Amino acid sequence: MKILVIGGGGREHAIITSLTKSPKAEKIFCAPGNAGIAGIAECHPIDVMDFNGITKLANELNPDLIIIGPDDPLVGGLSDVLSKEGYRVFGPSQRAAILEGSKSFAKDLMKKYNIPTAAYETFDDPEKAYQYLITADFPIVLKADGLALGKGVLICNDLNEANAAVKEIMLDKKFGAAGNRLVIEEFMTGKEVSVLSFVDGNTIKIMASAQDHKRAGDGDTGLNTGGMGTFSPSPFYTAEVDEFCRQNIYQATVDAMRKENREFKGIIFFGLMLTEKGPRVLEYNARFGDPEAQVVLVRMENDLIEVIEACIDGRLFEIDLKFNDNAAVCVVLASQGYPLKYEKGLPISGLNSFEDKNDIFCFHAGTELKNDTVVTNGGRVLGITALGDNLQKARTKAYLATDLISYENKYKRNDIGEGVWIQKRD
Ligand code: AMP
Ligand code: GLY
Repeated sequence: MKILVIGGGGREHAIITSLTKSPKAEKIFCAPGNAGIAGIAECHPIDVMDFNGITKLANELNPDLIIIGPDDPLVGGLSDVLSKEGYRVFGPSQRAAILEGSKSFAKDLMKKYNIPTAAYETFDDPEKAYQYLITADFPIVLKADGLALGKGVLICNDLNEANAAVKEIMLDKKFGAAGNRLVIEEFMTGKEVSVLSFVDGNTIKIMASAQDHKRAGDGDTGLNTGGMGTFSPSPFYTAEVDEFCRQNIYQATVDAMRKENREFKGIIFFGLMLTEKGPRVLEYNARFGDPEAQVVLVRMENDLIEVIEACIDGRLFEIDLKFNDNAAVCVVLASQGYPLKYEKGLPISGLNSFEDKNDIFCFHAGTELKNDTVVTNGGRVLGITALGDNLQKARTKAYLATDLISYENKYKRNDIGEGVWIQKRD
């Protein structure tokens, strides 16, 4: 089987690493890919938002399956474009990807179908938002409606901060058109858990739980990032939490989407907060998380292609998802300055140390091959992921492995997977 994967980050490197283990995979292509992916797939330098370019590439390669990794092309409708060309595509349609693409859509859906989430109001007019805030309780959470690289969420401690945030999002358009609409949400506290799932439109199968560390600095300080590291499983995702979510959240979401005539086929990522009153949905994503995919996929025992094909064909009920009874930790090696300003093009050494290891993976996130040298090409550069019998062992292994890599301005958090991690106020 020939497979084309769209994307070029750590998530796609992890997806392709899993695909290579399947006897069904004959040839794997990737657009645009990165220097690490180039070692296991044929990369084509086409941007994920260049739909014409990707369609042309697909027509040249004629893949049997196309997997779309990132949110932007999914929300933009790439899945529909490629399906119309006759390809078997894994990734939700544009109508379904709105679950991630619009926070107000997701909130309205949860309200309508009684899926537990924070109380909220939606605003198209900044004046109405200012008025609402006068009598609101603080802290409070302001969210740009659309995609904003995980940065469109502002936690405000008082009225001044909230007014400034309304201006930033709705008037200054700091997050572009994503801020045309604003969601103002009740502030919740608790531990956060990421739960990924495969969905075939009707059936949903839950993967092992994971937890992301979103802030740039140790001790959960500094700016929000795409994710500085992950671990799986989350010790906070207890059997009781799982039971609650199965009864109130997972299937309810899939059924709600179907009832809204927005049948969801692909990956649903549930961002959950375990509050005192029980689990609540923070957000939905319509794709694998990055770097959640890196710790979840390495623990999965199933053939990824089989599971994906079952999703596309609507027979996911046949699949028994199995995860190893081990743990994984991913430590992101970033560039100093991320998520703001950072240098690119710095040569990376030590990458060979990871060859022939089956319990330590060096997933490339932002790398590029320049004159036969692998150089940095993004804020998040590599995701060093290790498997172990338990979280502590996986963590020790992952951190030891981070020392094998060197490049100028290398930066990492030192507390990934360090047990309890409580959501703090800004
Ligand atoms: P989101 O993109 O909606 O997941 O938000 C990004 C991050 O903001 C989450 O991972 C939480 O840490 C935080 N956050 C979002 N919504 C809330 C909320 N209602 N209460 C507290 N923290 C929140
Ligand atoms: N790590 C969070 C995300 O992929 O959105």
